[in-house]
Amino acid sequence: MQIQIESQPYASVESDALVTYVFDKDDKFDGVLGEINRGMNGRLAALASSGEITGKVLELLLLHFPEGLAAKKLLLVGAGKPAKFQVSDLRKIAGTALRQLKSRGVKKFTFLVREGEMGAAAAQAVVEGLIVADFESNKYHTEKKEREIQSVGLAGFDSSVDLHSAIQQARILAESQNFARDLINEPSNKLTPRILASKAEAMAKEAGLGIEILDERKIAELKMGALIGVAQGSIEPPRVIVLRYTPENPQKDGPVLGLVGKAVTFDTGGISIKPANNMEKMKYDMGGGATMLGAMRAIAALKPSVPVIAVIPATENMPGGRAQKPGDVQTAMSGKTIEVINTDAEGRLILADGVFYARKLGATHLIDAATLTGAIEVALANVHVGAFGVPREYLDTFLESAKAQGEKMWPMPMDDEYQQMIKSDIADIRNTGSGKGGGASTGAWFIKEFAEDTPWIHLDIASTCWVDEGRPWLAKGPTGIALRSIVDFALKMKP
Ligand code: BES
Ligand code: MN
Ligand code: ZN
Repeated sequence: MQIQIESQPYASVESDALVTYVFDKDDKFDGVLGEINRGMNGRLAALASSGEITGKVLELLLLHFPEGLAAKKLLLVGAGKPAKFQVSDLRKIAGTALRQLKSRGVKKFTFLVREGEMGAAAAQAVVEGLIVADFESNKYHTEKKEREIQSVGLAGFDSSVDLHSAIQQARILAESQNFARDLINEPSNKLTPRILASKAEAMAKEAGLGIEILDERKIAELKMGALIGVAQGSIEPPRVIVLRYTPENPQKDGPVLGLVGKAVTFDTGGISIKPANNMEKMKYDMGGGATMLGAMRAIAALKPSVPVIAVIPATENMPGGRAQKPGDVQTAMSGKTIEVINTDAEGRLILADGVFYARKLGATHLIDAATLTGAIEVALANVHVGAFGVPREYLDTFLESAKAQGEKMWPMPMDDEYQQMIKSDIADIRNTGSGKGGGASTGAWFIKEFAEDTPWIHLDIASTCWVDEGRPWLAKGPTGIALRSIVDFALKMKP
């Protein structure tokens, strides 16, 4: 999809459609929308009086052959109340417009911003919204639908602002998000830990990142007992993917961001096996790892001033003849012993070694992302990512990035009481909570036991990494959530 800044006045652009948005307020037709309304002899105002244009969030109105415009269609998208509106809402508006027009066979359209949103931040949000919305899960369809948006023109922007770098940055972020979504979509027979590692290698080479793949021998040598415990039930050997980004003038003794992502390429539950219903979804249990791979892809291009290391433990969780069993005790790389109460709580096990290894490699600040618990869906549905973190100020800074990127995240409790629930009678800790409930927090505490005092954030994306129903601005399936916030956070980190 081509994206260009429109040099002609919007009214004379001969595209398939002109898109703009309308606010939910009394004088809807001010500024540029007033011009369009006058060109149409007040038809828009008449539609507003009859209740067809209200400006409510993402309300759509499509008009054909609008007078006064060279475009063949005019699409108005509701932007809601002006007081509630944020520039980041332009993502959903632009994305909704793209999906609506694509479904109608439109190939070229122009997106016109209003008077309040003429700068670089708006351009970035629009372009991100467009590219993320354009993603489809059609790789394994042998007959593809012909529908494709070929180009989008951006109109109404302040001509004195250089939008090129904003557009470029948006493209990198959104394409990296789609790169992660492609990986998440892959079925487990097409994406084993070894295949994931080779895809990571190809990406690293193209992006210019350092990469090292730890194979099963190296993993054994490093005594990653928690990861090995999970992997031993499968014929497929595990891998640990290590990626490195180094800034041009690395500061000695400065902060190093460590990104750790859970990549269980298929989670059967192991011996504590899952029910058949919905088990096919467990191909996306590598969503955290894919998020970190995509984030590193973007980081390589956007070049934050701090070094970033990513550690992605990858394995299947299978109930093979050598599988670990409930009650087994494993020794993690850190030396801590773990009683495996439930082999289906495998994500925290592989993250234990991943987080510890990231610290060994020099990470001074950690973020992990994982499809960790069903409990986070009970708490937050598919609305918010569950965000845990210690110290609280570190988490709060991250939540600012999430807000700026329009990714909904909610801070979750890390009180000591949850730590008590993972005490074990026979080992240092157990991999499930002993009390009732609080499953997302006990899972987070388990990981924190290996982050120790390193500032750490844990993103439980189990309920947000995949959506069963599409949204007007997003195809159903993998969302690529959290990636943009992580990259934004890395870019704002000071050396
Ligand atoms: N991968 C699952 C969590 C999950 C559930 C992700 C639903 C996406 C959708 C994880 O490994 C798991 O099985 N967690 C268990 C933990 C429990 C045994 C303590 C869970 O949440 O049920
Ligand atoms: Mn599991
Ligand atoms: Zn899992």
